[in-house]
Formats: sequence, C-alpha cells, structure tokens
Amino acid sequence: MKNEFKDKVIWITGASSGIGEALALELAKREARLILSARRKEELERVAAQTKLADLDMLILPFDLSDTSNASALAAQVINKFGRIDILVNNGGYSQRSEAIETPLEIDRQLMEVNYFSYVSLSKAVLPYMKRQKSGHIVVISSIAGKFGFYLRSSYSAAKHALHGFFESLRLETEKFGIKTLIVCPGKIKTNVSLNAVTSDGKKHNEMDKSHANAMSAEECALQIISAIQKNKEEIFVGGKELLIIKIRWFFPKLFSVLIRKQSPY
Ligand SMILES: NC(=O)c1ccc[n+]([C@@H]2O[C@H](COP(=O)([O-])OP(=O)(O)OC[C@H]3O[C@@H](n4cnc5c(N)ncnc54)[C@H](OP(=O)(O)O)[C@@H]3O)[C@@H](O)[C@H]2O)c1
Repeated sequence: MKNEFKDKVIWITGASSGIGEALALELAKREARLILSARRKEELERVAAQTKLADLDMLILPFDLSDTSNASALAAQVINKFGRIDILVNNGGYSQRSEAIETPLEIDRQLMEVNYFSYVSLSKAVLPYMKRQKSGHIVVISSIAGKFGFYLRSSYSAAKHALHGFFESLRLETEKFGIKTLIVCPGKIKTNVSLNAVTSDGKKHNEMDKSHANAMSAEECALQIISAIQKNKEEIFVGGKELLIIKIRWFFPKLFSVLIRKQSPY
C-alpha cells in the first residue's frame, strides 16, 4: 500500500507529551519529516531521539503557545529548512479544573490564548505557503468538551467550541486552494492532560482523573487521527464509551440534560 506520509513535512505542536508525542512517533514510522514544538526543549529532544529520524528530517522548534506573535517567523523557519509545509497539527494545550465563579479572568484569557488563539495564529502563518503549494492539511485537536459544556471546564470548553466556529469557516474558505481541515474531538485519552490542567489559583491540578487512568491510549488515538487524515475526514470523535454522550445529545436532548448532570468532573 502507498505510504502517503513519506517525505511529508508535518508540524506538530504539543509534541513533547501525550497525543502529540504519539503522533510524532507514528508519523516518523511512516517516514514523514517532522517539526516538533512545545515549551520543553529537552522533552522534544527525547521524542526526536525516539523517532530515529535524521537531522535532515527533523526540526525541534520550541516556543510557548501563550505568545504566538512570532508565528510568521516560526513558519519561515520551517520553510527555510524544508521548503514546504504539508500538515500542521494544532494539538498543544491544557485543560481546566476550576469552577467559573472562582476562576480569575486572567486564567480564562490564558486558556483562550493557548487553546484557541495560538491555533488561529499558527494556521494563519502557514496558510500562505499552503495556498502557494495548492495543497495542505490543517489538523485541529478539539475535544468532546468542544461540543457541550461541562463541570470545571468553562473556559477550556469555550476555547474548544471556538475552534469549531473558526476552523469550520476556514475549511469552507480554503478548500478552493486545495487545503483540507480536520477537526478531532477526543473523549478520554490516557495522557497527562488532567495532571497539567489549571486550577483556580493558576497551579496544576496534578492528579490523574479516574476517567483518564483506564482510557484509550495516546498511540491508538494517534492511529485514528492518521487514518482520518488519509481519508480526508472533516471531523472525528476518538475515545471509548464516553463518546455515547454525543449521540445521546443529538437524538435525546432531554436525556442528555439529565445524564450530563450526573457525570463526575474527574
Ligand atoms: N487526553 C485527553 O483526554 C484529551 C481529551 C480531549 C482533548 N485533548 C486535547 O489533546 C491535546 C493534547 O493533550 P494531551 O492529552 O496529549 O495532554 P498532555 O500530555 O498534557 O500534552 C499537552 C502538550 O501541550 C503542550 N503545551 C501545553 N501548554 C503549552 C504552551 N503554553 N505552549 C506550548 N506547548 C504547550 C505540552 O508541552 P510543554 O509542557 O512541553 O509545553 C504538551 O506537549 C490538547 O489540545 C487537549 O486539550 C485531550
């Protein structure tokens, strides 16, 4: 079977851990050329070493998604090294474990900045190159929290909802340039996402949620994302039985309303 990822230039944010790391390792097996981004350079180097890709095929590009005012310069670095950009995976981000009433506005703004505006900013930075190439794929990691609000997730859920509005519009506007947009809605995936979630005092939650401990692996999630890219899907849901709530909301909204109140936030 043809390996359509061979030599493709793929930029992954949040590549130092969890879903982003798993995607990097799976795409390296398919001989893609990778740009790995996150804040922790040493963790990106650890992931890069595992990929066994040659220096020629790997760029470690650390930066903080809370300030992407230099997004054009970052994209230019990618182009300087590889000459093109085939896929941008907007994946980096963090969750929330705090009630809205107790959460300072500054924390709400930070959640929006990292989980929403950075995705918009990096996508705008690569789009001119994709337009010129007449091809490209923007992948956006949303969440089932991008489909309904949930306890302790007010601004995280708001940021994920915002991604759907922006990227569904962008998809319509850019498909004439050969650019595709995939929105991924994971349910529960076993990563450090709950440990890294922010609390109302701005510190990390630092606990593994029960619902994440036995969830789908990041590796399986990565395989499903890769398959969706290959099949040119527009939106996918990835996870286990927690995804049932999406169907219940569509078909039985009153039942959804009862059930969602009974779910544990952890
Ligand atoms: N796991 C789930 O159940 C689940 C469910 C729905 C959606 N998601 C989404 O999946 C994506 C990946 O999360 P994950 O589950 O893999 O969690 P994770 O293991 O905590 O990974 C998060 C990644 O994002 C990076 N990151 C966080 N804040 C950043 C910042 N300010 N600047 C740059 N990079 C930053 C982290 O790297 P550094 O710390 O090195 O910067 C790390 O590589 C997120 O968008 C998350 O919302 C996850």
